[in-house]
Amino acid sequence: MPEYEYILTRTEGRVGVVQLNRPKVLNALSRGIMSELMDALESFDTDPDIGCLIITGNERAFAAGADITEMATATPVSMLDNPFIDYWDRLGRISKPVVAAVSGYALGGGCELAMACDMIIASETARFGQPEINIGVIPGAGGTQRMTRAVGKALAMEIVLNGRFLTAAEALQHGLVNRVFPPEVYIEEAVKFAAEIAARAPVALRMGKEAVNAAFEMSLQAGLAHERRLFYMLFATEDQKEGMDAFVNKRPPNWQGK
Ligand code: CAA
Repeated sequence: MPEYEYILTRTEGRVGVVQLNRPKVLNALSRGIMSELMDALESFDTDPDIGCLIITGNERAFAAGADITEMATATPVSMLDNPFIDYWDRLGRISKPVVAAVSGYALGGGCELAMACDMIIASETARFGQPEINIGVIPGAGGTQRMTRAVGKALAMEIVLNGRFLTAAEALQHGLVNRVFPPEVYIEEAVKFAAEIAARAPVALRMGKEAVNAAFEMSLQAGLAHERRLFYMLFATEDQKEGMDAFVNKRPPNWQGK
């Protein structure tokens, strides 16, 4: 990994961890931090020794949103010419599973970043919100769409129109997050959670992620047909032969990612 200015990276076994690191501004998502984040994620995505990725922040803030100081003087044309929000779209193109480990504020673009991940592990202190209404705009990096799909229309309207924050317990209750842990242990629990996933058959992991995501884009019939094609395709992998042979012979599988 190259030297980064705004993020820290590390590996824990087969888990690649990227930590947002602009603590003085609650990890406000500037172009610089988003560019480095995507660079590190894409690099982990092509590393065969990595099976699952984590994006995290610090105990006070996962990220308090897009950097408002950078956006304050923007125009529609400047936004079109230099599309900052493409970084969130690039996150959607990472093929390995991505877990957000969230403590403290996950607001605006920070909440949208967590929701663009595949799963969220939260600290009890996590607060999820789309407070853009308070600065005269609406969410622009997927908040109205992903929040609505996650928690339903009634609550999403409150969050987007009234800037209501969800506590970690509410986020769990409404299906926005997978698990909630005390702040002292949430990151190690997130690493454990990611490590379990990272230990599984690599090609099947990618196909599983693709198939679940397709459920949001396709009709049921088209989604079922897509799933079936991916399922059949996995019978061309060595890992399918290995996994089924290991089951039949009552031994642990040894995945090759092939
Ligand atoms: N952009 C730039 N700077 C930010 C920031 C942001 N989104 N959020 C916090 N900061 C900065 C503050 O300006 C402050 O800097 P200074 O010390 O230099 O004054 C520092 O971080 C600490 O913040 P506060 O003093 O405000 O801390 P607090 O504990 O009083 O409040 C907070 C915390 C409620 C999260 C508050 O900082 C806040 O409301 N932040 C903005 C949240 C927001 O509106 N996010 C949406 C941004 S727009 C967006 O994301 C669009 C999109 O969809 C892509």
